[in-house]
Amino acid sequence: MTAWSPSSWRDRPGKQLPNYPDAGALEAVEAELAGRPPLVFAGEARRLKRQLANVAAGQAFLLQGGDCAESFKEFSAANVRDTFRVLLQMAVVMTFAAAKPVVKVGRIAGQFAKPRSSDTETQDGVELPSYRGDSINDMAFTPEGRVPDPQRLIRAYDQSAATLNLLRALASGGYADLHNVHQWTLEFLSDSPAGERYQEYADRISEALAFMRACGVTPDGAPSLEGVDFFTSHEALHLPFEEALTRMDSSSGRWYATSAHLVWIGDRTRQPDHAHVEYCRGIENPIGIKCGPTLPEDELLQLIDTLNPQNEAGRIVLYARMGAGKVEAHLPKLVRAVVKSGHQVVWACDPMHGNTIKASTGYKTRAFDSILSELRSFMDVVRAEGAEPGGVHFEMTGQNVTECVGGSGGLAEADLSSRYHTHCDPRMNADQALEMAFQIADALKPVAAERRAAE
Ligand code: PEP
Ligand code: CO
Repeated sequence: MTAWSPSSWRDRPGKQLPNYPDAGALEAVEAELAGRPPLVFAGEARRLKRQLANVAAGQAFLLQGGDCAESFKEFSAANVRDTFRVLLQMAVVMTFAAAKPVVKVGRIAGQFAKPRSSDTETQDGVELPSYRGDSINDMAFTPEGRVPDPQRLIRAYDQSAATLNLLRALASGGYADLHNVHQWTLEFLSDSPAGERYQEYADRISEALAFMRACGVTPDGAPSLEGVDFFTSHEALHLPFEEALTRMDSSSGRWYATSAHLVWIGDRTRQPDHAHVEYCRGIENPIGIKCGPTLPEDELLQLIDTLNPQNEAGRIVLYARMGAGKVEAHLPKLVRAVVKSGHQVVWACDPMHGNTIKASTGYKTRAFDSILSELRSFMDVVRAEGAEPGGVHFEMTGQNVTECVGGSGGLAEADLSSRYHTHCDPRMNADQALEMAFQIADALKPVAAERRAAE
């Protein structure tokens, strides 16, 4: 294998990379970003890796979620807080049921660049370059808007820094204290079925906390009650941006992506000899790989060998994203091959990207039942092949949007137009996300009970 450097990806073919009309302007932005502070620290990425190693060993569960694409327009403290608190609520429900720690990772503070299935988009006979995410060009369908503008990378960096600052405060400044479990309830959730069920959980958790306090267990002795670890992630798609934020960690002498704790390789850019895999192979962060129905098992093994030659636990997260009804045909052979190879990986399910459909009203949507059905098939298949279903990866928001259909609120296709705000793929709203967490909890509970009985 050739020598790796933060720029060695430039010698490889790369898909989905934007074409900037002014190469000099991009270089100036890269230089500016290279001089900016890191967004995350190497020690934090190592901490996440240790937690993911626990997931790979079946001792923890991964919950990852957030916007399909963050946007400049929808950025506000309230939006960040609401996504964070739904993730906290989901994590509480899942921790309680699985009796395992839940590793919390946001698709946030850097999830701006999007791979697209077509380079251009045509509206009313006019063809323009596709929208590739706010860090690249504008969603507005105008010739000027669709030209990639490198200054957008600076704005994405600034927004990511501000988002992370707020997330760090939310995670450790008191808000995430488990004693606040009742206060995380969102106003519009309180009278939904998922909201009511959450109140019951919160009551039981409050009782348990009171009992523990009476027994002398206080936050001083159990700091995990007072705050949470919360990590960030995004697709490592825009390699010039990633390269500019790749830094050598002075304590270990190793290279880290400092744009997020975990980065993943998308289903469209996972060619083993291409640029995105080359970049990711040299950084020490946990790396995700999206595994779609077209991924052959020998190529998956090749990817894992390239990205994790030392078979370090916690380094690789595999996200199966097959689509409901396709899991049984495509996933068993992948899990079997990985189990046989002895590679330690986290198996997670992205039940969103194989289940995008077009509603009769023209909106891109996803059905709650398809998402749930893929998730259940994933758990069955992974277990049947002798591995551990270790996590989930959702596109979701804390807002009360109308982008996915179904769920106990009965969101119908006709409702989609009322609050459809996503800048890319349809997200579960807060209610649907919390309901999904209860479904996962119900699936994990019997396994937890079996484990306890065996102990
Ligand atoms: C995504 O996660 O937004 C995405 C584009 O996924 P995939 O690469 O699996 O299609
Ligand atoms: Co998406």
